[in-house]
Amino acid sequence: MAAILESDAAQPAFTARHIGISAGDRATMLAELGFGTLDHLIDAAVPAAIRSTRRLRLPQPVPEADVAAELAELAFRNRVSVPMIGLGYYPAITPAVIRRNVLQDPAWYTAYTPYQPEISQGRLEALLNFQTMVGDLTGLAIANASLLDEGTAVAEAMMLMRRASGSSSRLLVDSDTLPQTLEVLRTRAAAIGVEVELIDVTDLLPGGEFFGLVISYPGCSGEIRDLAPLVVQAHERGALVAAATDLLALTLLTPPGEFGADIAVGSAQRLGVPLFHGGPHAAFMAVRKGLERHLPGRLVGVSVDAAGNPAYRLALQTREQHIRRDRATSNICTAQVLLAVVASMYAVYHGPAGLTAIARQVHDHATALAAGLRAAGHAVVTEHFFDTLTVRAPGRGAAVVDAAHEAGLLLRLVDADHVAVACSEITTAEHISSVLAAFGATPCAARQETAGGLPERMRRRSGFLTHPVFHEHRSETAMLRYVRRLSGRDFALDRGMIPLGSCTMKLNATTQMEAIGLAGFADLHPFAPPEDVAGYTRLIRQLETWLAEITGYAAVSVQPNAGSQGELAGLLAIRAYHRDRGEARRDVCLIPASAHGTNAASAVLAGMRVIVIASQDDGAVDLADLEAKCRQHADELAAVMVTYPSTHGVYEDGISRLCDLVHEYGGQVYVDGANLNALLGVARPGEFGGDVSHLNLHKTFCVPHGGGGPGVGPIAVAAHLVPYLPTHPLHPDPRRRLGAGTISAAPYGSAGILPIAWAYIRLMGDAGLTEATKVAVLSANYLARRLSPSFPILFVGENGLVAHECILDLRPLTAATGVTVDDVAKRLIDFGFHAPTMSFPVAGTLMVEPTESEDLAELERFVEAMVAIRREIDEIAAGVVAVEESALRHAPHTTAAVTGDEWSRGYTRGHGAFPTGASPDKYWPPVGRIEQAYGDRNLVCSCPAPATFES
Ligand SMILES: Cc1ncc(COP(=O)(O)O)c(C=O)c1O
Repeated sequence: MAAILESDAAQPAFTARHIGISAGDRATMLAELGFGTLDHLIDAAVPAAIRSTRRLRLPQPVPEADVAAELAELAFRNRVSVPMIGLGYYPAITPAVIRRNVLQDPAWYTAYTPYQPEISQGRLEALLNFQTMVGDLTGLAIANASLLDEGTAVAEAMMLMRRASGSSSRLLVDSDTLPQTLEVLRTRAAAIGVEVELIDVTDLLPGGEFFGLVISYPGCSGEIRDLAPLVVQAHERGALVAAATDLLALTLLTPPGEFGADIAVGSAQRLGVPLFHGGPHAAFMAVRKGLERHLPGRLVGVSVDAAGNPAYRLALQTREQHIRRDRATSNICTAQVLLAVVASMYAVYHGPAGLTAIARQVHDHATALAAGLRAAGHAVVTEHFFDTLTVRAPGRGAAVVDAAHEAGLLLRLVDADHVAVACSEITTAEHISSVLAAFGATPCAARQETAGGLPERMRRRSGFLTHPVFHEHRSETAMLRYVRRLSGRDFALDRGMIPLGSCTMKLNATTQMEAIGLAGFADLHPFAPPEDVAGYTRLIRQLETWLAEITGYAAVSVQPNAGSQGELAGLLAIRAYHRDRGEARRDVCLIPASAHGTNAASAVLAGMRVIVIASQDDGAVDLADLEAKCRQHADELAAVMVTYPSTHGVYEDGISRLCDLVHEYGGQVYVDGANLNALLGVARPGEFGGDVSHLNLHKTFCVPHGGGGPGVGPIAVAAHLVPYLPTHPLHPDPRRRLGAGTISAAPYGSAGILPIAWAYIRLMGDAGLTEATKVAVLSANYLARRLSPSFPILFVGENGLVAHECILDLRPLTAATGVTVDDVAKRLIDFGFHAPTMSFPVAGTLMVEPTESEDLAELERFVEAMVAIRREIDEIAAGVVAVEESALRHAPHTTAAVTGDEWSRGYTRGHGAFPTGASPDKYWPPVGRIEQAYGDRNLVCSCPAPATFES
């Protein structure tokens, strides 16, 4: 088998383009490690017990042009209509300058989450604009930097209200809530014992205690109710109030913050983000002052850098969300940064007047439609509306929807007697005429204008988007330069290696990216009728089948739209499985100390109790401790959640024993598949003992990280868990509507980016994917070997090898010299590198993952930088320079720092800025080292006044 897997000569050209290491360099690297072939290395590194016994059954790979043609053909099979379905999803126009220069620009889409703020100032500013926009429009003090979708944002609001208010377990929910939101909410509430009670918000609130109230403003039906009195009542009863709302409508309507809501949530999709058949889109959450420490997701704030200049960075608890584990405010890690950036740029592009004009036009179309329908004798049920009307069509609902579909418009069948119509930015007078015709009304009736549908007392009177950034970029020239200026401040994969351990920052090939812009993928509503989405259905079915084959499981669901959501889906499946077997008491989730923080946070959301398993000195899961805990919790054991290869970057031999043990005690094995880049084609979790895994398509399968999202976190399950895969109330396949519960707002989550992963598998095939894994392991081991004389490698397997990443232990050097991981991370910026993962999974270390896509020259450049840094540390150790005076402590060096008139440091300006010699391609960080504590003490989470930047 080795000989077959070794073959690379016959690979289509793409594999050689995806994998950065040439055949010649491979030989050099293998020789350095003492292996003759790649397969010998893999045989030594990967325990024989978990090796796959057969090759992957995937279609033969085809070249790039063929893949592009196949994707075009799939997109063509989707019928692009004019969606007027609403339900939280509206067609929008992405200004071309934003589409090309943000959405399709690798400088934006290949960046990582801004944990290293000095090299992320561009996207942090764009996110601050997003927060400012959301705060202004909702009338609330502080907004976060995006959530996954509206449904999960409402669920997060539920969690926040429960944490912040009282002990009741009852949540009141507006009966006019979006159906998918309701299902996500019910799923999440059931898992943690919250009782959801639907109420009619036009009545008085029911008696009894409750901790929160969720209202919809406007409602799902389109109706706008004056909810202020209800909010007062809820507050009097000690509860908090969350409003699910619409940012475009809020340009015309009193914002929720002004009528007392504590929280506002919703989706920013209609601000210039394509429909994408349901996602990815940026959801938002804004809260009143006093609730900011409960916020889920990321929050960007303003601080200062070493020179005292304003600088942006992630604020408060959101920086270390992943290490708070079961005490985290939520399990959200990857969010929707790229889409939040698009929405914020849409607001920058249009400004307040432009947004208001769009909203007015949308509303005028809805008003004209209402007038036309009423003139023709139809009963418009919605009295006060922004964009959506619910119309009576006794016994004719389906006929009206069908007639509109014939005419190329998608309306929503509410029930046999009612149809809903939602207007949007793309609605035209012709569309209104066609809708009228579908109802059997004469189009000319539309001209009989009547007063608008906005209730007078709910009209917005306050200003918004007053910050200059929303006024200064009206011309396309100014807009283009603004977008370019921000992306120019950031370090993304388009500049150099991002060796972040556990993040798999590999090539996001342009061929894979191009298809997502095709109208046949981008412009589909998530609830379009099945006959309109044949291309998507086929692509998703194939992708799910391929992922099941790759992981060795029975079935896959692509619904979860981040790894965290996959974790929750998998754990809920496990809970449901135990419950159906009469073992509902099984609620203990064993999680190794080294696990990613989302694991523990997800277990809590699934209603489980987290018990931590110790690690041995060599980093491996302590099997004796595991066995003891299994025994101790034998009757309550639900699952173990284990990352493989472990977050220590090692293929642990004990994995088979671990799976057996947990099974013996009646538990299920959750294998976190975030590190699948070390397994693909080599081992299959479903074969070596896993019952369920989530994958991160935004790691192993080339979906770009987007600066912190989007992501896709499919779950793969063994046969006995298939009945518990996520369902969706509006799933195109009626068999998948009822069942285990709903994880994401759209049936296929972030469907719009699935073509990227599909294309990767189609381009690589079995041999290419397997080879990529092997080269990823080769590169990691090569780096470990080359770096180990300078920095000890913390954990290796029994054979002295690592998996696809390695941990550099800086703790002895820190103890001896005071140089911290922070110093090394910031100094790497001067060398033109993004830092490795800092202090995860072990504090005081750096975790390096090169991936298969980097070439040897880039690996050597990294080695050279790290060796040079070690020399600088040695000078400190030798007393040549004090750590406080060192280039390491002053890093990163900005242009202002090295070109200023003052220079009193003990090293040259050249050494500070150009440690490996001058280069025209140098990346210059826009700010110096950022002080975190200052920003947390002086919390500012919206755009600072321009005067702040005057020196
Ligand atoms: C091991 C591991 N598990 C889970 C996750 C969570 O995935 P996501 O960020 O997509 O929610 C990550 C993310 O980095 C991870 O590294």
